[in-house]
Amino acid sequence: MAVTDGGCEVGVVGLGVMGRNLGYNMAEHGYSVAGYDRDAGKVERFVESAGCGQSVQASGNIKEFIDLLRRPRAVILLVPAGDAVDGVIQDLLPHLEPGDLIIDSGNSRYADTDRRKRGLAEKGLLFMGMGISGGERGARYGASLMPGGPRKAYERVHPVLEAVAAKVDGEPCVAYLGPGSAGHYVKMVHNGIEYGVMELIAETYDLMKRGLGLHARDLQCVYEGWRKGELNSYLLEITARIFARRDEKSGRPLVDMILDRAMQKGTGEWTAADALELEVPTPTIDVAVVMRNLSGRKSQREAAARALDGQPAVFSGDREGFVDHLGRALYAGMIITYAQGMALLGEASRAHGYRLNLGEVVRVWQGGCIIRADVLRHLRAAYQAAPKLVNLLLDPHLGKEVLGRRKDLHQVICVAGEMGLPVPALAVSLAYFDAYRSSWLPANLIQAERDFFGSHTYERVDRPGVFHTEWE
Ligand code: 6PG
Repeated sequence: MAVTDGGCEVGVVGLGVMGRNLGYNMAEHGYSVAGYDRDAGKVERFVESAGCGQSVQASGNIKEFIDLLRRPRAVILLVPAGDAVDGVIQDLLPHLEPGDLIIDSGNSRYADTDRRKRGLAEKGLLFMGMGISGGERGARYGASLMPGGPRKAYERVHPVLEAVAAKVDGEPCVAYLGPGSAGHYVKMVHNGIEYGVMELIAETYDLMKRGLGLHARDLQCVYEGWRKGELNSYLLEITARIFARRDEKSGRPLVDMILDRAMQKGTGEWTAADALELEVPTPTIDVAVVMRNLSGRKSQREAAARALDGQPAVFSGDREGFVDHLGRALYAGMIITYAQGMALLGEASRAHGYRLNLGEVVRVWQGGCIIRADVLRHLRAAYQAAPKLVNLLLDPHLGKEVLGRRKDLHQVICVAGEMGLPVPALAVSLAYFDAYRSSWLPANLIQAERDFFGSHTYERVDRPGVFHTEWE
């Protein structure tokens, strides 16, 4: 296949599912692409499966790969986050020249991105950290791209990024997000929100499955119905589709054959840990991580179910009415989860100097990514009206939407408690909302106790300063 004079415009390192598909996506948009992978089979497959007219080359030899690239080079890494990224960078280094650009597109930890950027800058190389969301299909047909790093590096590659990004109303789901690790930070929080919303959906599933005794076919109808309204989102869409899938072997719904133990690669936990570090409350995201951890203790749960009478009660009220409450509660929970994630981004932007435009972040998430949802239109409008909004719950429209569904959340949580079904994400979302709208919280008592046992002092409501009482 013909290569443009002077070599390929983009290099892709890592020709697994994501790298291969992103490579084809770029080639389909007229870019000449060179691929590299240590695995000869992947190299061969990349070239052989390329579409007709796609300018694609590949090599399993790093020098050969580098020689295929036009100068200054732009190399996108699609390798697993962690040591593999450092390993690939080390392999590339002897062959790169000052001015070349490396873009790490894995789910890398943002602190690693800052470290790598510093190390490569000393060698005159440019480094960008870019989150990609949308999985295999996104990579192939349009992803949500979250790039951060030197602006001049972004300026160099933005045409190709815009070409391969998902489009919403004609706008590409990509934007320059900020310096340093801004892109990877935004992707981390995207995943934290993903964890929160997935846990909320899982809790509605549990209430309908164990509480109402609904089967896969009914569940498919409920989620499909919800998806036609305000809850329309990628995660609801795939949820409905999951309930439609049968296991070929047993003929039963496939979801019923899947072990109830959720795995994780770490981005949700990083979000929760960073939020704690920055003292930003993100309880729905935190509890989503906790529930994955609890799900992992399968044998302990089985023992506890026997020892502690773990059989939940069955629902006995108005079933249809309850499903309506559930859908409205889920929508409120979703807004609250986005509010927590965005509040974290706002604080992190100040702490790390990212200067994030939160409206742009939301725009980039409107297409291609896992957390794309109709509700993002309202989030975007909220930031358009007030770009410096500290919490989305303070936006008049979104605040009203949650307030109007507070009773639904409350009702669902009460019923869940009566049945003995765990709904920590729904419950903590309501608690967050109620705590956030409380002008008074019982923290004065905590201060008094701290001062009592540790002379930690307290502030007073009637005059400024710091006070201590001899309590004994
Ligand atoms: C995406 C996903 C993607 C990946 C998650 C899965 O945006 O396309 O978030 O990055 O599927 O990392 O994360 P866990 O393995 O932690 O659930």
